[in-house]
Amino acid sequence: MSTIKIAPSLLAADFGNLQRDVEMVNRSRADWHHIDVMDGVFVPNISYGMPVVKAIAEHATKPLDVHLMIVDPDRYINVFADLGASVLTVHLEACTHLHRTVQAIKKAGMQAGVALNPHTNVQLLEDVITDLDLVCIMSVNPGFGGQSFIENTYSKTRALKQLIERKKASTLIEIDGGVTSKNAKALKDAGADVLVAGSFVFKSDSPEKTITALIQATE
Ligand code: DX5
Ligand code: ZN
Repeated sequence: MSTIKIAPSLLAADFGNLQRDVEMVNRSRADWHHIDVMDGVFVPNISYGMPVVKAIAEHATKPLDVHLMIVDPDRYINVFADLGASVLTVHLEACTHLHRTVQAIKKAGMQAGVALNPHTNVQLLEDVITDLDLVCIMSVNPGFGGQSFIENTYSKTRALKQLIERKKASTLIEIDGGVTSKNAKALKDAGADVLVAGSFVFKSDSPEKTITALIQATE
Protein backbone atom coordinates (compact mmCIF):
# COMPACT_ATOMS: atom_id res chain seq x y z
CA MET A 1 0.00 0.00 0.00
CA SER A 2 1.43 3.34 -0.98
CA THR A 3 1.84 5.85 1.83
CA ILE A 4 0.68 9.36 1.35
CA LYS A 5 3.20 12.19 1.51
CA ILE A 6 2.57 14.97 4.03
CA ALA A 7 3.74 18.51 3.35
CA PRO A 8 3.17 20.82 6.35
CA SER A 9 2.58 24.39 5.17
CA LEU A 10 4.92 26.78 6.96
CA LEU A 11 2.46 29.60 6.26
CA ALA A 12 0.81 28.53 9.51
CA ALA A 13 4.10 28.36 11.45
CA ASP A 14 5.08 30.83 14.16
CA PHE A 15 7.32 33.22 12.17
CA GLY A 16 8.98 34.37 15.39
CA ASN A 17 10.09 30.78 15.92
CA LEU A 18 10.55 29.71 12.32
CA GLN A 19 13.71 27.68 12.95
CA ARG A 20 11.94 25.77 15.74
CA ASP A 21 8.99 24.98 13.48
CA VAL A 22 11.18 23.93 10.53
CA GLU A 23 13.09 21.62 12.89
CA MET A 24 9.79 20.15 14.10
CA VAL A 25 9.02 19.21 10.47
CA ASN A 26 12.55 17.75 10.15
CA ARG A 27 11.96 15.48 13.17
CA SER A 28 8.42 14.52 12.20
CA ARG A 29 7.13 11.90 9.77
CA ALA A 30 6.36 14.61 7.20
CA ASP A 31 7.92 14.28 3.76
CA TRP A 32 8.25 17.84 2.43
CA HIS A 33 8.31 21.44 3.66
CA HIS A 34 5.51 23.30 1.82
CA ILE A 35 6.42 26.95 1.25
CA ASP A 36 3.74 29.43 0.08
CA VAL A 37 5.00 32.51 -1.74
CA MET A 38 2.34 35.19 -2.40
CA ASP A 39 2.77 38.49 -4.21
CA GLY A 40 -0.36 40.46 -3.28
CA VAL A 41 -1.33 40.55 -6.99
CA PHE A 42 -2.19 37.00 -8.01
CA VAL A 43 -3.72 36.52 -4.56
CA PRO A 44 -5.00 39.17 -2.14
CA ASN A 45 -2.26 38.53 0.41
CA ILE A 46 1.52 38.79 0.77
CA SER A 47 3.26 35.99 2.66
CA TYR A 48 7.05 36.03 2.50
CA GLY A 49 9.78 36.22 -0.11
CA MET A 50 13.27 35.07 -0.88
CA PRO A 51 15.13 36.00 2.36
CA VAL A 52 12.63 33.99 4.39
CA VAL A 53 12.75 31.05 1.96
CA LYS A 54 16.56 31.19 2.28
CA ALA A 55 16.30 31.05 6.08
CA ILE A 56 13.92 28.08 5.87
CA ALA A 57 16.28 26.32 3.43
CA GLU A 58 19.19 26.73 5.82
CA HIS A 59 17.42 24.69 8.51
CA ALA A 60 15.27 22.30 6.44
CA THR A 61 16.45 18.73 5.93
CA LYS A 62 13.57 17.59 3.70
CA PRO A 63 12.70 18.61 0.13
CA LEU A 64 11.33 22.13 -0.32
CA ASP A 65 7.94 22.15 -2.06
CA VAL A 66 7.58 25.75 -3.19
CA HIS A 67 4.09 26.96 -4.20
CA LEU A 68 4.25 30.23 -6.12
CA MET A 69 1.05 32.29 -5.97
CA ILE A 70 2.55 35.07 -8.07
CA VAL A 71 2.01 36.55 -11.52
CA ASP A 72 4.60 35.89 -14.23
CA PRO A 73 6.54 33.28 -12.21
CA ASP A 74 9.10 32.80 -15.03
CA ARG A 75 10.98 35.81 -13.60
CA TYR A 76 12.00 33.87 -10.50
CA ILE A 77 12.52 30.25 -11.62
CA ASN A 78 16.31 30.40 -11.36
CA VAL A 79 16.15 32.25 -8.05
CA PHE A 80 14.12 29.45 -6.46
CA ALA A 81 16.42 26.82 -7.97
CA ASP A 82 19.39 28.58 -6.35
CA LEU A 83 17.50 28.71 -3.03
CA GLY A 84 17.24 24.92 -3.11
CA ALA A 85 13.62 24.24 -4.15
CA SER A 86 13.02 20.60 -5.11
CA VAL A 87 9.50 21.10 -6.44
CA LEU A 88 8.45 24.43 -7.96
CA THR A 89 4.72 24.84 -8.51
CA VAL A 90 3.21 27.65 -10.59
CA HIS A 91 -0.45 28.48 -11.11
CA LEU A 92 -1.99 27.64 -14.46
CA GLU A 93 -4.00 30.87 -14.18
CA ALA A 94 -0.75 32.89 -13.87
CA CYS A 95 1.01 31.43 -16.94
CA THR A 96 0.30 32.46 -20.52
CA HIS A 97 2.85 29.97 -21.85
CA LEU A 98 2.54 27.16 -19.34
CA HIS A 99 4.45 24.59 -21.42
CA ARG A 100 7.42 26.92 -21.68
CA THR A 101 7.34 27.67 -17.95
CA VAL A 102 7.24 23.95 -17.09
CA GLN A 103 10.23 23.24 -19.33
CA ALA A 104 12.15 26.13 -17.74
CA ILE A 105 11.51 24.73 -14.23
CA LYS A 106 12.84 21.32 -15.29
CA LYS A 107 15.81 22.85 -17.07
CA ALA A 108 16.68 24.61 -13.80
CA GLY A 109 16.88 21.16 -12.15
CA MET A 110 13.59 21.14 -10.22
CA GLN A 111 10.43 19.07 -10.41
CA ALA A 112 7.64 20.97 -12.12
CA GLY A 113 4.23 21.44 -10.53
CA VAL A 114 1.09 23.21 -11.72
CA ALA A 115 -1.58 24.42 -9.29
CA LEU A 116 -5.24 24.81 -10.22
CA ASN A 117 -7.64 27.24 -8.58
CA PRO A 118 -10.98 25.77 -7.45
CA HIS A 119 -12.74 26.99 -10.64
CA THR A 120 -10.14 25.59 -13.06
CA ASN A 121 -11.03 22.35 -14.82
CA VAL A 122 -8.44 19.57 -14.70
CA GLN A 123 -9.00 18.76 -18.39
CA LEU A 124 -7.10 21.97 -19.25
CA LEU A 125 -3.97 19.96 -18.39
CA GLU A 126 -4.62 17.25 -21.00
CA ASP A 127 -1.91 18.47 -23.39
CA VAL A 128 0.76 19.05 -20.73
CA ILE A 129 0.11 16.37 -18.11
CA THR A 130 2.90 14.02 -19.28
CA ASP A 131 5.38 16.86 -18.65
CA LEU A 132 4.27 17.47 -15.08
CA ASP A 133 5.78 15.97 -11.95
CA LEU A 134 2.95 17.28 -9.77
CA VAL A 135 -0.48 18.88 -10.00
CA CYS A 136 -1.65 20.82 -6.95
CA ILE A 137 -5.43 20.94 -6.67
CA MET A 138 -6.38 23.95 -4.57
CA SER A 139 -9.12 22.85 -2.19
CA VAL A 140 -9.58 26.47 -1.02
CA ASN A 141 -9.15 29.74 -2.90
CA PRO A 142 -5.42 30.48 -2.62
CA GLY A 143 -4.19 33.33 -0.46
CA PHE A 144 -4.91 32.37 3.12
CA GLY A 145 -4.52 29.51 5.54
CA GLY A 146 -7.32 28.31 7.76
CA GLN A 147 -10.15 28.31 5.20
CA SER A 148 -12.72 25.56 4.88
CA PHE A 149 -12.28 22.71 2.44
CA ILE A 150 -14.25 22.81 -0.84
CA GLU A 151 -16.14 19.51 -1.27
CA ASN A 152 -15.91 19.51 -5.08
CA THR A 153 -12.23 18.61 -4.60
CA TYR A 154 -13.04 14.89 -4.39
CA SER A 155 -14.58 14.64 -7.86
CA LYS A 156 -11.87 16.88 -9.25
CA THR A 157 -9.18 14.62 -7.79
CA ARG A 158 -10.83 11.54 -9.30
CA ALA A 159 -11.05 13.24 -12.72
CA LEU A 160 -7.38 14.21 -12.56
CA LYS A 161 -6.39 10.66 -11.54
CA GLN A 162 -8.29 9.32 -14.59
CA LEU A 163 -6.54 11.81 -16.87
CA ILE A 164 -3.12 10.82 -15.47
CA GLU A 165 -3.85 7.11 -15.99
CA ARG A 166 -5.31 7.61 -19.46
CA LYS A 167 -2.22 9.56 -20.52
CA LYS A 168 0.12 7.08 -18.76
CA ALA A 169 1.71 9.94 -16.84
CA SER A 170 3.45 9.56 -13.48
CA THR A 171 2.28 12.91 -12.09
CA LEU A 172 1.67 13.21 -8.34
CA ILE A 173 -1.60 14.75 -7.14
CA GLU A 174 -1.25 17.23 -4.26
CA ILE A 175 -4.19 18.68 -2.33
CA ASP A 176 -3.76 22.10 -0.72
CA GLY A 177 -6.17 23.80 1.66
CA GLY A 178 -8.40 22.78 4.55
CA VAL A 179 -6.84 19.32 4.87
CA THR A 180 -7.51 17.57 8.22
CA SER A 181 -7.61 14.02 9.54
CA LYS A 182 -11.33 14.06 8.68
CA ASN A 183 -10.88 14.36 4.90
CA ALA A 184 -7.39 12.82 4.50
CA LYS A 185 -8.55 9.23 3.88
CA ALA A 186 -11.22 10.22 1.35
CA LEU A 187 -8.66 12.36 -0.48
CA LYS A 188 -6.22 9.48 -0.63
CA ASP A 189 -8.98 7.16 -1.88
CA ALA A 190 -9.84 9.73 -4.59
CA GLY A 191 -6.23 9.61 -5.83
CA ALA A 192 -4.22 12.10 -3.77
CA ASP A 193 -0.49 11.41 -3.30
CA VAL A 194 0.51 14.49 -1.27
CA LEU A 195 -1.48 16.34 1.39
CA VAL A 196 -0.56 19.89 2.36
CA ALA A 197 -1.70 20.88 5.85
CA GLY A 198 -1.12 24.23 7.51
CA SER A 199 -3.50 25.20 10.32
CA PHE A 200 -4.42 21.63 11.16
CA VAL A 201 -0.77 20.89 11.98
CA PHE A 202 0.60 24.14 13.38
CA LYS A 203 -2.45 25.29 15.37
CA SER A 204 -2.66 21.95 17.17
CA ASP A 205 -1.24 21.29 20.64
CA SER A 206 1.38 18.90 19.32
CA PRO A 207 2.20 19.51 15.64
CA GLU A 208 4.54 16.55 15.44
CA LYS A 209 1.88 14.17 16.76
CA THR A 210 -0.71 15.75 14.48
CA ILE A 211 1.46 14.90 11.45
CA THR A 212 1.57 11.27 12.59
CA ALA A 213 -2.20 11.34 13.17
CA LEU A 214 -2.72 12.64 9.63
CA ILE A 215 -0.71 9.74 8.20
CA GLN A 216 -2.55 7.24 10.38
CA ALA A 217 -5.91 8.65 9.30
CA THR A 218 -5.10 7.64 5.72
CA GLU A 219 -4.13 4.04 6.56
C1 DX5 B 1 -3.25 28.71 0.65
C2 DX5 B 1 -1.92 27.99 0.70
C3 DX5 B 1 -1.94 26.79 1.57
C4 DX5 B 1 -2.24 27.07 3.00
C5 DX5 B 1 -2.98 25.90 3.53
O1 DX5 B 1 -3.20 29.69 -0.32
O2 DX5 B 1 -1.54 27.55 -0.59
O3 DX5 B 1 -0.74 26.02 1.43
O4 DX5 B 1 -1.10 27.30 3.78
O5 DX5 B 1 -3.41 26.19 4.81
P1 DX5 B 1 -4.54 25.38 5.55
O6 DX5 B 1 -4.07 23.94 5.66
O7 DX5 B 1 -4.62 26.07 6.87
O8 DX5 B 1 -5.79 25.47 4.74
ZN1 ZN C 1 0.21 26.09 -0.76
